[in-house]
Amino acid sequence: MERKLGDPKIRYQILESTNEFVLGSLKERKFNEGTIVIAGFQTHGEGMGENRWESEKDKNLLLSLVLKPVFLEPAHQFYLNKFASLAVYDFVKHVLPDKNVTVKWPNDVYIDDKKVAGILINNTIIGKHFEYVVLGIGLNINQKTFKSDAPNPVSLIHHTNKELNLEECLQSLLHYLNSRYEQLKVEKSQSLDGDYLNVLYRYQNWSEFKTENRTFKGRITGITEYGQLQIEEESGKTQEYDFKTVEFSG
Ligand code: BTN
Repeated sequence: MERKLGDPKIRYQILESTNEFVLGSLKERKFNEGTIVIAGFQTHGEGMGENRWESEKDKNLLLSLVLKPVFLEPAHQFYLNKFASLAVYDFVKHVLPDKNVTVKWPNDVYIDDKKVAGILINNTIIGKHFEYVVLGIGLNINQKTFKSDAPNPVSLIHHTNKELNLEECLQSLLHYLNSRYEQLKVEKSQSLDGDYLNVLYRYQNWSEFKTENRTFKGRITGITEYGQLQIEEESGKTQEYDFKTVEFSG
């Protein structure tokens, strides 16, 4: 049976982490595709790499969406980053149509130079197929101040200047997740490639980058099919970078 993303919704006031909750439950229970687990607060919200995700109680959206994308080869898993970040982008752009909303590679959503949402994808693979994909989304909605040393957080309320209803935000976000997931399933990805590049932060703009051992001027010219960032340098040479091996400097 074809299920809508967001059905069922499993809600908790407090969890360690919605992603960890789903991953840790997989031994005892099965989840249908489309299930979302939502928490009002996380005691150990996880970000990418070693980072933590800060979120005040009941101020923001913290959720994990369970997917079983049997149609997608694990080698092409970057399409999960694309569809999810575009859905979050769509939602933020819908709330703030006049703002400069972008997706910062690989899957942060930005308003100007500040991060409004982050995505953490965990998956389990059996043989050549995904068994489960756990797509965690943290979306800052009504939190006004941030305590952690996260470099540049922002919330929607900083731009709307009024509190937003979290339930309405969730419904709207689910609408965009459903429609981008259909795009991924039906069109298999090609149109997502263009849509992703169209909203990519600093795409084609000459910028300063840094790697572990040097800084250089370059511009993003594309994304490989495996999700690596392609950066062209002033010399005309283009190189491909894995996540965490390059970042904007300044
Ligand atoms: C990042 O940008 O570093 C990714 C942040 C992802 C945060 C969300 S909040 C809901 C889900 N549960 C977690 O522990 N992390 C993700």
